Amino acid sequence: MHHPRAMKRLKIGVLGSGKGSNFRAILAEISAGRLAADPVLVMSDVASAGILDLGRLAGIPTHLIVESAFRTRLSPGVEQGVVDRLREAGADLVVLAGYMRLVKPVLLDAFPRRVINIHPSLLPAFPGLEAWRQALDAGVLTTGCTVHFVDAGMDTGEIIARAEVPVLPGDTAESLHARIQVEEHRIYPAVVARFASGELP
Ligand code: GRF
Repeated sequence: MHHPRAMKRLKIGVLGSGKGSNFRAILAEISAGRLAADPVLVMSDVASAGILDLGRLAGIPTHLIVESAFRTRLSPGVEQGVVDRLREAGADLVVLAGYMRLVKPVLLDAFPRRVINIHPSLLPAFPGLEAWRQALDAGVLTTGCTVHFVDAGMDTGEIIARAEVPVLPGDTAESLHARIQVEEHRIYPAVVARFASGELP
């Protein structure tokens, strides 16, 4: 059937190591008809990761990445396998959603300016692990989250969008992270929508 507004939808490959709440937020925007994207593959390096369950529930192909040599990155051969699967699935954009390893040139060179990440601080402040706890320990009054292009560094790529979040009196690491995640779930789907509309990259 002819649809006058039919447009090519963005195919996204998703990588995550955790519960996948950012992926859930992206799925919700798609379901609501506000995001012209389709997840074509969900991959995780953690067998028990909630993000794999979300993918299965949504009927999206999932894949467990098995890496035995390294903890903070993938071996080149394993990362090449990830690239091959993303290509076979036809992914246009690679969305890191709580993926806890560094991405190396094998993947980055295969998807130039097509790998994005969300980080729970106002980069360039507080790169690395548990950025919300770093912000709390540093005593800043404002932190937030950042969506950025991924490069070979740790949370160093070009910034696409940021949202500020206040640190409130009495905040714990958990309460602050939860407040940051509310903003993550708003800005990450919004950035993916900018790729879907062709505004990025
Ligand atoms: C988020 O805080 C994100 O900023 C960081 O990892 C966490 C992932 O959370 N990169 P979720 O798995 O999307 O719930």
